[in-house]
Amino acid sequence: MPLVPTRDILADARKNAYAVPMFDVSNYEMIRSVIEAAEERQSPVMLGALKPDIEGVGLDYFIAMAQTAAKTSSIPIAIHLDHACSLEECQRVIEAGFNSVMIDGSATPFAENASMTKEVCDYAHKRGIDVEAELGHVPDAISGQGEAAHQGYEHKEIKDCLTQPDQVLRYVEQTGVDSLAVAIGTAHGSYISTPELDISRLQEINSSSPIPLVLHGGSGTPDEQIKNAIANGIAKINVFTDILIAMNSKKKEVLNELENMGTWPHVLNNKPNEALKEVVREKISLFGSNNRV
Ligand code: 13P
Repeated sequence: MPLVPTRDILADARKNAYAVPMFDVSNYEMIRSVIEAAEERQSPVMLGALKPDIEGVGLDYFIAMAQTAAKTSSIPIAIHLDHACSLEECQRVIEAGFNSVMIDGSATPFAENASMTKEVCDYAHKRGIDVEAELGHVPDAISGQGEAAHQGYEHKEIKDCLTQPDQVLRYVEQTGVDSLAVAIGTAHGSYISTPELDISRLQEINSSSPIPLVLHGGSGTPDEQIKNAIANGIAKINVFTDILIAMNSKKKEVLNELENMGTWPHVLNNKPNEALKEVVREKISLFGSNNRV
């Protein structure tokens, strides 16, 4: 089916208290595996692109694959740019065919963050494209290992950059943004200790936010905390590390057992892809997005 606007996907999630999964995907294997598992479970899904995977002509490859995924499947799909740092990055992917972008000014002060986000919203909304932004800052769990490290962010402690609930309404009104990523205790990448989500902060944020809320750093948080976050207003959850761990671990196992290095990729990748799909299925059940199509 044609791409579905993120605002429609997230409005349904917010209304019915489930969360839409967004998986960052870097290549054909990942795109296809995510879509097949989501289709099996009849879940809407968002495909996320990160900067290193869409550099140069990489963007053309990415959009062709993601659009093929949407065209050949029966579930609602949005193609989303994750963690853009400038209007130019957003313009480039919108022109290429993405229908959703995240502008991430979270490492800058409120006024700078709000003004960059407003600039992106003004551009994107004229073209019917939805915008996510981030208030507060979701850092890397281990400096240098999360994908944000590729974008040159300096490492910060989780507790030092949580979203301030009293800033939320002002931010949304000033920017016109469509969904908001909030910092309530998660981080990107692999944790060194179990995260502790600040659910009362989330409740306060949710009660003042007119727009759907997003949780970044969806890997590695205990299931009960994820369920609690969804029950208190999270309508979209980003996942990357957990699918990478599943796929890469299985790939290592397969390669270690492989005698013939002339083996075709479709054989080599079979089990790693299946491992990735299993994580996608689990996240969909946990987020309650199955059978929502
Ligand atoms: P994880 O890698 O921790 O799952 O975070 C993904 C994410 O938030 C991408 O924006």
